[in-house]
Amino acid sequence: METFFKDKAISPAALLSFAAEYSEANGIPNSLLNTEIACEGIIPSTNDLAKELCKKTKGNMLITAEGQTGGRGRMGRSFFSPQSTGAYFTIVLHGERSLLDSLKLTPLAAVAVCRAIEALSTLTPKIKWVNDIYLDEKKVCGILTEAVTLGDAVTDIIVGIGINLTTECFPKDIPIAGSLNINTLTPAKIIAAVALEFLKEVPYIAQNKHIAYYKSHSLVLGKEIVYYQNNEQFFGTAVDITEDGGLMVRTVSGELLTLNGGEITLRLK
Ligand code: BTN
Repeated sequence: METFFKDKAISPAALLSFAAEYSEANGIPNSLLNTEIACEGIIPSTNDLAKELCKKTKGNMLITAEGQTGGRGRMGRSFFSPQSTGAYFTIVLHGERSLLDSLKLTPLAAVAVCRAIEALSTLTPKIKWVNDIYLDEKKVCGILTEAVTLGDAVTDIIVGIGINLTTECFPKDIPIAGSLNINTLTPAKIIAAVALEFLKEVPYIAQNKHIAYYKSHSLVLGKEIVYYQNNEQFFGTAVDITEDGGLMVRTVSGELLTLNGGEITLRLK
């Protein structure tokens, strides 16, 4: 779908120009003005480059790629990142923070992606716990959050986001993948919007203000799910999201438990 992109190029100038427009239109700070920006062509992975760069840079960073040859996903999976049909980027938050606040940044990133999509289109995306974004039963975005540590201290948090914009031919082993297909959306526009939505909330992460939006966009609340513990499969119902982003599940025997990580699937009847 070549015609979808009037301008596929991602440059610091394009990002800053869209960020200025988005910040004005939505009344939020233009945090990209004090973020170091690196726009790459085709590279293995923006998260891997982020880990290298954050050794030398002492501030927040935004790293983008036109495509990735080794895009990484959660659970050791890969993330299909063909050139110019998606937005592949990493936001680096520099500075020490608690492990708990670090964990909360993943649901916050999911909220930022959904808010940006809603601001730039008429679509209503949904969040599959913990951090996959779905549209019409297809996964359109994945988020991989990683921590850089020095001893016991977290020094940087690396939030890698991949959004499928117009990708059509996904590998056969990822049948759940789909694309946003918003014809006015360029990679630079959505990257700038997500970065601003994310960075505006980071200072307030301890207040958990993003959780209400997260819940209102949940794909799983009220649904029967399959979850895994020690490689064993269990069934339950997703009943709530905790302030820390954990998933509360009612087990088949009626107990309540909270999942703080891992993966769930919706139970098909
Ligand atoms: C997932 O779906 O499991 C998470 C996918 C995360 C993909 C993004 S694309 C930009 C960044 N660089 C990577 O190598 N991975 C993340």
